[in-house]
Amino acid sequence: MPAAYPIAILASGRGSNLAALIDAQRTASLPIDIVLVAGDKAHAPALRLAEEAGLSTLALDPAGYATRAEFDADLFARIAEHAPRLIVLAGFMRILDASVLEPWVGRVINIHPSLLPLYRGLRTHERAIAAGDAMHGASVHYVTSELDGGPVIAQASLAIAADATPATLAAELLPLEHRLLAACVELIAEQRVALDDNVVRYDGSALSAPLRLGPDGTLETSA
Ligand code: GRF
Repeated sequence: MPAAYPIAILASGRGSNLAALIDAQRTASLPIDIVLVAGDKAHAPALRLAEEAGLSTLALDPAGYATRAEFDADLFARIAEHAPRLIVLAGFMRILDASVLEPWVGRVINIHPSLLPLYRGLRTHERAIAAGDAMHGASVHYVTSELDGGPVIAQASLAIAADATPATLAAELLPLEHRLLAACVELIAEQRVALDDNVVRYDGSALSAPLRLGPDGTLETSA
């Protein structure tokens, strides 16, 4: 059996996407080894969850650093000590410093709750409803210095119900996010997806559109 793929996860909040990856590691449905879970909030449920799962954790307080760049440099230096091949931002609510990120581009992914390029930033569910959109969804993308702007690997989508509220839409989307993130991590761990010169390659070919999460939980190319 090939060695498990080492990943680090950064999370600031609730940690449900983290929990989905922990489950996948535990049940061996994903060939991953979560080598570190790090965050910027010592009391975040995500870090508790990681501790309870027996994983290595790291909480760094941004208040202890003079600048964002110094915080990010220390965070990434400490992450590097654990030698992950992939860093997953799973509800990590900070913008990363471009120069710290630069050497890691292609090895950091983020999950964002919108069909990018729609609705970068916050309050995505509210904005999709207010715009009268028929569809909403989530995207997993490579992280670049542009906020929520890096090349998209894959998306999951759903129809917005007529009576949807931001809360109901978020709740409906969340299980799809978990499947989407796990499926993307699996393809990267299997080295079937990679970033090459700012283009996502899937089985060696440049993707012209994001992969789509199918009903069976696997990723498909767009028709
Ligand atoms: C998710 O909606 C994710 O898309 C966004 O932040 C939320 C994190 O949720 N980036 P959780 O902490 O994984 O439960």
